Amino acid sequence: MYLDSISISNFRNYKYFTKTFSPQINIIKGTNASGKTNLLDSIYILLNSHSFIKKNYMNKYNESIIKGTIKKEITYNITVTLGKNKKSQINSKTHTLKDFKLIFPSVIFSIKDFFNFNEKKYILSLIDKFSFIENPNIIENIINTLKQLKLKHILFEKKDFNTIKIINKNITTNMQTIQRKRNSSIQAINSYLQNQNIIPKKIQIQYKPLSFDEKIANLEIQTKHNIFTPYKDSIEILLDENNIFSYSSLGEKKMILFSLIMSLVEHYNNLNKAPIILIDDLEGDISNTNLQKMIEKIILLNNQVFITTLENINIKNANVIALSGGI
Ligand SMILES: Nc1ncnc2c1ncn2[C@@H]1O[C@H](COP(=O)(O)OP(=O)(O)OP(=O)(O)O)[C@@H](O)[C@H]1O
Ligand SMILES: [Mg+2]
Repeated sequence: MYLDSISISNFRNYKYFTKTFSPQINIIKGTNASGKTNLLDSIYILLNSHSFIKKNYMNKYNESIIKGTIKKEITYNITVTLGKNKKSQINSKTHTLKDFKLIFPSVIFSIKDFFNFNEKKYILSLIDKFSFIENPNIIENIINTLKQLKLKHILFEKKDFNTIKIINKNITTNMQTIQRKRNSSIQAINSYLQNQNIIPKKIQIQYKPLSFDEKIANLEIQTKHNIFTPYKDSIEILLDENNIFSYSSLGEKKMILFSLIMSLVEHYNNLNKAPIILIDDLEGDISNTNLQKMIEKIILLNNQVFITTLENINIKNANVIALSGGI
């Protein structure tokens, strides 16, 4: 699967822009503020039906239109309209966010992800993404749990303890499914990480699902707050037995996140769901030797790749998209 072409109208710094891409490596080059991240985000929006930057990312235009053609076994024409009349269509039919993610799998590595990397929620979401491609219903399990948690929050105020008990049962069932999927995904990720050949140290994820008991139930009622939620499980990333968020250097953490993302890519590839890979600013905080290691890993893949760079990345035979403007 690859994105063959894109056309962008009235989107952020783009009045109109159109381009045809290589099915392999595409390098988006330009100075600061030339529109590299915005172009990458428009590709992300086309594949996911939402932005990777921010939901409420301001837009000076009332309506933006992003169109693209994806070649798979068949050709897909996608149109995403942003603004008041938001619309996401595949071959002129409206589709959900879940449909987009299933039909056009993609994987992103960006500064924003790196900033979020030390949050439990980000790591658990990455693991859920790993489960999603095999078990798309994990989305419903999470959505259902979040809905029930919202309802429970109201019931704490009303002191409706009987209904809370029933809801707790539903939440526990959903959470057990999520946690089971997480457990098996983490086992798979750990074995991918053992063979990653990017960092000469042992990376390992350690996961301890939270289980619901009488103590938590009482504490929730006392504090009127949900404690048993999808993002309270204990999760740690260890590098040679040390927690990376206490011990690792900046570049080291970036390499670890890259290894995790590459595990995700390998997993999707093994399931014949080769994702399009989007990388925003690969080189920041990375030494030249490590950058070369990352590039070597990327070159070995058959996936379509988009990499934004200021000027430091040169890959033989890659398609270069040079953006002008900026500061
Ligand atoms: N909604 C918007 N409308 C118009 N312009 C916008 C909007 N949002 C962002 N911009 C501008 O678009 C320009 C390009 O931003 P972008 O983040 O794509 O740059 P970049 O090439 O990735 O830069 P850097 O090298 O600093 O990462 C910036 O000047 C930014 O302020
Ligand atoms: Mg950028």
